[in-house]
Amino acid sequence: HRDELLFSYKGILYPTAICNPESFKALESFEARSDDVVLVGYPKSGTNWLSQILTDLIAISQKKTPGTESSGNAEGARDFPFLEMGNAEKYERISKLPSPRFIATHLRPDTLPKSFFKNKVKILLVIRNPKDVATSFYHFCNGLPVLPSYETWDDFFTDFMTKKMTWGCYFEFLSEWNKYADQENIMTVTYEEVKENPALAVKNIATFFGIPLTEEELQLVVERSSFQSMKKNSEKTHGTVGNVLFRKGFVGDWKNHFTEEQNKKMDKAFEERIAGTKLGKKLKY
Ligand code: PPS
Repeated sequence: HRDELLFSYKGILYPTAICNPESFKALESFEARSDDVVLVGYPKSGTNWLSQILTDLIAISQKKTPGTESSGNAEGARDFPFLEMGNAEKYERISKLPSPRFIATHLRPDTLPKSFFKNKVKILLVIRNPKDVATSFYHFCNGLPVLPSYETWDDFFTDFMTKKMTWGCYFEFLSEWNKYADQENIMTVTYEEVKENPALAVKNIATFFGIPLTEEELQLVVERSSFQSMKKNSEKTHGTVGNVLFRKGFVGDWKNHFTEEQNKKMDKAFEERIAGTKLGKKLKY
């Protein structure tokens, strides 16, 4: 069953229902623009949350009202929210969209088209504590029919700690992106810091992308991106997936899942593979 649901591209697993090898081939020649607004995050790190913030910021930068039909490209981005999802033909369509385009992705830098780096595109990287990522991912796998489901949390944990996850291994994702963490066109935020002080996070993100904000606009973006508003709106924005996607939206739900032994295993893996890196130091662990 698992084999039917997934395929492998360059050694990484993806769900057959939302990605395909032809798209990955076509993606290699994708031309990123220097004014694209790009969001990168490992699955379950808060990519849909930061997508909401960024699309609203783009709308504001174009003097459009966030969330309305006329906010154009920003809202239009919703039908290609993730670069690697969908059919190969969509890249043709994206290539014709006016700037600034919003692009989200779960890809590692070694799979992202070279043009993103060549053109020094600004990238917002969102990272989240692996314990909460694993917890969120487990519920997502069991809630979304296109992903392999798990009978037990223990089975899931074993896979999460190896390379069997779709979009690859959390630890490898972080160490690959860590190689770019110093570049000035890349800004890193943690899920936990956005949660703790959303206004400050939105302000910093807007500054990074060069988008001026009034106090009112700032409050609007913060309000619209709260877990409650996004969950309430989720059927409109995400269809039936919305229910599964906007699950709990807080920090520390891992405590309801991890055994003492799993906690130790994760701590050890974190210590050995991430703690000493730039992203590891930034991560709220
Ligand atoms: S996906 O499917 O990989 O793209 O998932 P992703 O969007 O990266 O992450 C989903 C988790 O983010 C939580 N979320 C939020 N938290 C706080 N505030 C807001 N507005 C918000 N929106 C989404 C979502 O609930 C998932 O986390 P868990 O822990 O499962 O609730």
